[in-house]
Amino acid sequence: MSSVLLRRKRDNDALTENLLITGASQLLTLRGGAPRRGTSLSKLGIVEDGAVLLCRGEIAAVGTRAQVESRKDAKQAEKLDVGGRVVLPGFVDSHTHLIHATSRAEEYELKIQGASYEEIARKGGGILNSVKKLRAASAEALKARARAALEEFASCGTTTVEAKNGYGLNVASELKILCLQRELNNEQPLEIVSTFLGAHVVPAEFRGKPDGAERYIALLLEQMLPEVVNERLAEFCDVFCDRGAFTCAQSRRILSEAQQHGLLPRLHAEQLSRTGATQLAVELGAASCDHLEQVNAADIRALAKSRTVATLLPGCDFHLGWKQYAPARKLIEAGAVVALATDYNPGTSPTVSMPMVLSLACSQLRMTPAEALAAATINAAYALRREKRIGSLEVGKQADLAVFEVEDYREIPYYFGMQRCWMTVKSGEVIYMRD
Ligand code: NIG
Ligand code: FE
Repeated sequence: MSSVLLRRKRDNDALTENLLITGASQLLTLRGGAPRRGTSLSKLGIVEDGAVLLCRGEIAAVGTRAQVESRKDAKQAEKLDVGGRVVLPGFVDSHTHLIHATSRAEEYELKIQGASYEEIARKGGGILNSVKKLRAASAEALKARARAALEEFASCGTTTVEAKNGYGLNVASELKILCLQRELNNEQPLEIVSTFLGAHVVPAEFRGKPDGAERYIALLLEQMLPEVVNERLAEFCDVFCDRGAFTCAQSRRILSEAQQHGLLPRLHAEQLSRTGATQLAVELGAASCDHLEQVNAADIRALAKSRTVATLLPGCDFHLGWKQYAPARKLIEAGAVVALATDYNPGTSPTVSMPMVLSLACSQLRMTPAEALAAATINAAYALRREKRIGSLEVGKQADLAVFEVEDYREIPYYFGMQRCWMTVKSGEVIYMRD
């Protein structure tokens, strides 16, 4: 990808001292705090003819061109006029399965011909198929694939990516994935936030044996978790709590133990069936519960009263050809904190494109463009407990932003399957620029 200018992270002294960006037809600041619920989700804090001054990786000033240009420090800054494009905070993709070995295009074809996701999984395909492939792959190959994906994330305007392991399902492979995530975090400019997902499904070698699931959970809790904690390989712990994966009781045990070791819980909840995972997430004070296609009215009420973020992943339903998307309108109207993410993974959502997710959120979830943008920036930052540092363009925050080749922010979701991201900036450094 010739236009991608991804570089190694440089020390602070090497960062562009000052960069003055002017000429934004609309600068979406997303100012005003987090989390956003109800009507506050659509408040983008738009500045017309906007400008932003970046100083040593942070935002030093935001406002109209006249306001920002008149500052003394702006006069000495390097200047970039974005020519009437829209400037917004970099997207925060708060749910991905970044590291996996290959696509599962063969299963995609089977699904189109009528096989269900769960049928394929029961026959040893699905996640177990990806596990087989990952165990056979070298660390170098996994890293190269993930690195290429990260370049594509950046080219879509994303500046922070959550990443979970979960295609290894044994101690060595899961630690290998988490170590690769840490290396990638240090070697390329996007921030990677790591989540420990040892409980994706029960691996093949534990299935069909008495207490197989319990024995795998024992391995996870007694061998994987202590290593993850000692080596500080993750901030969060996730469980796929669903039919064919882990039960609520198992999820509670895993997440409670992880919580005692300082990992914050999050959950894959109510995707294939309603299990009560949302109620569990709320009870544990989870950072987020993600998917939510099958939530009921009581789940929505519980989320609305909680700080647990409802992260919606419409890319999955789109890719799987499902008609039932998560009830975004009901969640927003009840007052839940709604975020959007790609769920980049080879089985249900092979996309890195937050703009595509925004298009789906608008057309299928009936979210307005403004709601979708706030869900993909400030609320997603909140889901990763980073709302004080990223997710909005406000003085003192990290200089993470995206510039889109549009005049009106509504055109970001309006165009779909098209590359409209023009520039991406991470910590004050230009990491992507279109030719
Ligand atoms: O978020 N639901 C669990 N995990 C992934 C799918 C994983 C796969 O099929 O490889 C998801 O949809
Ligand atoms: Fe997922």
